[in-house]
Amino acid sequence: MTEPAPKRLHIKTYGCQMNVYDSERMADVLRPLGYALTDGPEGADLVVLNTCHIREKAAEKVYSELGRLKELREEKALAGGGRMTIAVAGCVAQAEGEEIMKRQPAVDLVLGPQAYHQFPELIARVSRARGERLAADFAPEDKFDALPAARHVDGPTAFLTVQEGCDKFCSFCVVPYTRGAEWSRPVQAVLAEARSLAEKGVREVTLLGQNVNAYDGAGPDGAPWTLARLARALADIEGLDRIRYTTSHPNDMGEDLIAAHGELEALMPYLHLPVQAGSDKVLRAMNRKHTAESYLRLVERIRAARPDIAMSGDFIVGFPGETEKDFEATLDLVRAVNYAAAFSFKYSRRPGTPAAAMAGQVAEEVADDRLQRLNALLDDQRQAFNASMVGRTLPVLFERPGRHPGQGVGRSPYLQGVHVSGAEHLRGRIVPVRIEAAGHNSLTGALLTREAA
Ligand code: SAH
Ligand code: SF4
Ligand code: F3S
Repeated sequence: MTEPAPKRLHIKTYGCQMNVYDSERMADVLRPLGYALTDGPEGADLVVLNTCHIREKAAEKVYSELGRLKELREEKALAGGGRMTIAVAGCVAQAEGEEIMKRQPAVDLVLGPQAYHQFPELIARVSRARGERLAADFAPEDKFDALPAARHVDGPTAFLTVQEGCDKFCSFCVVPYTRGAEWSRPVQAVLAEARSLAEKGVREVTLLGQNVNAYDGAGPDGAPWTLARLARALADIEGLDRIRYTTSHPNDMGEDLIAAHGELEALMPYLHLPVQAGSDKVLRAMNRKHTAESYLRLVERIRAARPDIAMSGDFIVGFPGETEKDFEATLDLVRAVNYAAAFSFKYSRRPGTPAAAMAGQVAEEVADDRLQRLNALLDDQRQAFNASMVGRTLPVLFERPGRHPGQGVGRSPYLQGVHVSGAEHLRGRIVPVRIEAAGHNSLTGALLTREAA
């Protein structure tokens, strides 16, 4: 008996790491149905766009991509290649499901972030109905229970979603509407997934959640565990040597989590802790529920526990009502913290959020100018941080081969990419590397002689 030819699946992922995790899990759900991943959409039997709604640009990209897919689908049919099913998943699907169907009739199905375990059933319905368009039920439910236990693993690092949703309602942000209320996976489920990852050679997990440090999943006796307690249990798993987590909200940074940074060797010294702005007036209008001062005190406490921790942040410039003086307060805060890495964005007005209706929307040129000035400062800080590594020896987890023959690429504890020649054979190992040079975005180093086998 010959095996049926695998069906070709292409998933294109936009947005945050939670979508990256979801895309991997969608592939896991579809694999038993005979779908194998391909790199491009050309000729694919099923194309999934896993979308992001956070800023207008991200959301608009989806529609241009759909236009391109419609053409590819026609080409495939003309060439006698059969049907290409087009699905839109993720946060745009959740927020604009109806509109997607109206704007692009080539879309066969739309499913929100809480519904992807229903994919097989939806696909079957689409193929029976031949092009009938179906929208998934968006009722949030426990998709995790319905997912296959087996995960396909590719390399020594993996994402692991432990928390979903957000109750914070920052006034600019769509996430509470696209991902729903805060919810944490039970401890046992997280540990089981982590154990199976470790058995497949994963050395580093990044715990994911929109508010991951608000984690309060039920422990074995039903009582909630904090993220710090979860991290300690994960660190006990054989083979799991590195733990990271993202994204955290300043107000959920518990004492035990801060302490864990000083005590738990597996917890990597890198913390993404968005602050968004440095002016208390703007922070209030953003509904952040913290001040610039309380954020700075928090960073001090974290650094008291782990002095070498690399801080990272998110910033928004041009929020409604932001004056030049407010913006300078953001620059002051950045100078006070000294970030190792950061992501900065121009405010994007999102329909349905409170900030979209606020007075004092900032002109595009003003926001552009502020973004440029902020980025110049953040770039300087990142480069200074990278340069401070030269001459040090850092443990590097090798992840993949580099562009040059024999080269291996891995990550430092501070999440910097490190390029090392003669290290291709070290994939999946954590090895000391002497840092020789710092580039704009990564480091270059050399193996100590005994490792260069
Ligand atoms: N839960 C995380 C991540 C939220 S989305 C957190 O609280 O930090 C990632 C980043 O996108 C945010 O931190 C914010 O800086 C940015 N962002 C969110 N909404 C935005 C908007 N309307 N315009 C511009 N940037 C936005
Ligand atoms: Fe959005 Fe604020 Fe929630 Fe982060 S904490 S996801 S920025 S609402
Ligand atoms: Fe985007 Fe949704 Fe993540 S809106 S940032 S993909 S939670």
